[in-house]
Amino acid sequence: MNKKVIEKIEKLRTKIRYHDRKYYVENKPEITDYEYDQLLKGLQELEGDYPQLITPDSPTQRVSGEPISGFTSVEHRIPMLSIENTYSEGELREFDSRIRRMLKGVGEIEYVVELKIDGVAITLWYENGVFIRGSTRGDGLKGDDVTTNLRTVKDIPLRFLCADDKKVPPVMEIRGEIYLPNKEFQRLNQEREEAGETQFANPRNAAAGSLKLLDPHITAKRPLHLFAYAFGYYEDGMFKSHIECLEIIKDFGLPVDPHYKLCSDIDEVISYCNSWEDKRNDLEYQVDGMVVKVNSLEVHDKLGSTSKAPRWAMSYKYHPEEATTKIESIKVQVGKTGTLTPVAELTPVQLSGTTVSRATLHNFDEIERKDIRIGDYVAVQKAGEIIPQVVKVIKKRRTGNEKLFHLPGRCPVCKDDVFKEEVYLKCYNPLCTAQAKRRIMYFVSRNAMDIEGFGPALIEQLVDKNIIEDYADIYSLRFDDLVSLDRMGEKSAQNLLNAIEESKDRDLHRLICALGIQNIGTHAAEVLSKHFDTLDKLMKASVEELEEIYEIGNIMAKSIVKFFSNNQIKKVIDKLKTKGVNLKVIHKGTKTVSNIAGKSFVITGTLNGYTRKEIEDIVKNLGGKVSSSVSGKTDFLIVGESPGSKLELAKRLGTTILSKKEFEDLIKKNVSSPCKNIM
Ligand code: IVH
Repeated sequence: MNKKVIEKIEKLRTKIRYHDRKYYVENKPEITDYEYDQLLKGLQELEGDYPQLITPDSPTQRVSGEPISGFTSVEHRIPMLSIENTYSEGELREFDSRIRRMLKGVGEIEYVVELKIDGVAITLWYENGVFIRGSTRGDGLKGDDVTTNLRTVKDIPLRFLCADDKKVPPVMEIRGEIYLPNKEFQRLNQEREEAGETQFANPRNAAAGSLKLLDPHITAKRPLHLFAYAFGYYEDGMFKSHIECLEIIKDFGLPVDPHYKLCSDIDEVISYCNSWEDKRNDLEYQVDGMVVKVNSLEVHDKLGSTSKAPRWAMSYKYHPEEATTKIESIKVQVGKTGTLTPVAELTPVQLSGTTVSRATLHNFDEIERKDIRIGDYVAVQKAGEIIPQVVKVIKKRRTGNEKLFHLPGRCPVCKDDVFKEEVYLKCYNPLCTAQAKRRIMYFVSRNAMDIEGFGPALIEQLVDKNIIEDYADIYSLRFDDLVSLDRMGEKSAQNLLNAIEESKDRDLHRLICALGIQNIGTHAAEVLSKHFDTLDKLMKASVEELEEIYEIGNIMAKSIVKFFSNNQIKKVIDKLKTKGVNLKVIHKGTKTVSNIAGKSFVITGTLNGYTRKEIEDIVKNLGGKVSSSVSGKTDFLIVGESPGSKLELAKRLGTTILSKKEFEDLIKKNVSSPCKNIM
């Protein structure tokens, strides 16, 4: 192997890791995104030419390009215990007294107090400083292996970033919390609302849902973050105090929430905890309490743990903030796919630093279950939820004038009949203007046709004034239609028309996504556009044909066929055609659906220049599987020198046989056109 190439690759990796740290951990980027992309591209190209040099910790492997087929279970080497909770200052003092009793009269105990991040607990396993595996807490003894998804979390270094390699122990486990910042949570929910999908109740659920997605492409688009807070397994005797552990974790390049504090006694602990009760609302992430930990690790050992929780830690939780207010009315909203959702309109009230005037009621069953009536006084809460919820009705305050809410028999917007689907009520009228508005919003949105300046207020006006009925009508808009609208000057009208015109040349996958087919998001749209090349071909596909496509399941296939069989939709698509909207693939190469993903490989014989493990890693990194024996399910047999009996069997079974060269060609094809848009 050319030494110069190896050196060049290593240099590039070090440089990229350095800039990753600057950008993701320190928030102080030193180069532009473009310069960063160039570095990454250089590395991708080199690795494309020398696939045997790809290592799992290379920055190019951050997004392993392909879906994982489910989660395997991982046993934790050290159980992931929970922490004892308290809501009272008194119990915190008892916790301190108990420890001192157990230690037989030592003086004051030093504690480290940290914010309790309200996310999802995970554990990260590093070997020689390289990220090997990450899993969820699960039941504390066993969790789910979510390595592929965690690789998309930019806060997690794929390799420790510390300069001094000698400090890195052979194995090291780091534990922490994955969270979704408030802003990202709101953005995600807004996108889901526009797409007619159910919203997440709070950032924690959104983080948990994102971590458990089977498609890492989608996880990669949800900006999850990490705060590490402790070591799991490590070699004994390395550290003396918890605070030292936090510092080392930071050195390794993992973010630690900066608000931890070393307190010299329980009084200081309590006043620090209290100081965060209100301040936590100003943070960009959710915090549901504080975690108080004894600083000395020697004391940790002395105190030990119960089967559930360590005796050296306690979490001090804040009561979720609650306010009482009145339900003025219950409004019904209609989503893009026709789902009706009840929303309570409240007398405005202050809660956790914001004025709350609406609360979600999720679905109609909930109104019945909680016996919510119009005019009721209710307790509303933001317990980690950014969207307030009605917790309970204050029945004592009922006057008898409260009115029962009646299930709508008709769509509040188009007045068409509605139908019950599980807990939801649905309007199926494709001409319903509420749906039309949502569909248009989705059509013009950033992930779809990306038409700048086409906001919700504009759509409201255009639909209400009957200027447009559906998204295809956008392409018939004239200057005069636009300038007559509120807050629309001549310049903005012209800019908008230019943006609309420009959007006619968007690539096919954007259009497929923009159509708003139920269950078809951005990634599925990309897969479909690759497969069919033109919208016409997609429109003619049968459920069976669609189901055969890797990553398109039965539900998606049925949705697609149902969508295109609707006559209204056909008319809308005809309009798009007449107006000159592009209906074909333009760029084929930007995103590759790997032809290794999901495929099963077996290796026989020796391949010069590769160890077995290296081949396995290459295949796995591209989403393939390696098995030890040939069967009817084997897709490829890689044949090296002196092959064994596997070759004969593969020939009999008609398995595709790959020489070393053919294998390398296949890898190159998959590595040299990286998934640019998800990095
Ligand atoms: S320490 C054995 N520190 O709270 C003690 N936990 O049961 C291990 N959490 O879901 C936990 N922030 O993931 C610790 N600064 C922090 C934390 C924290 C959030 C979570 C943890 C788990 C729960 C505790």
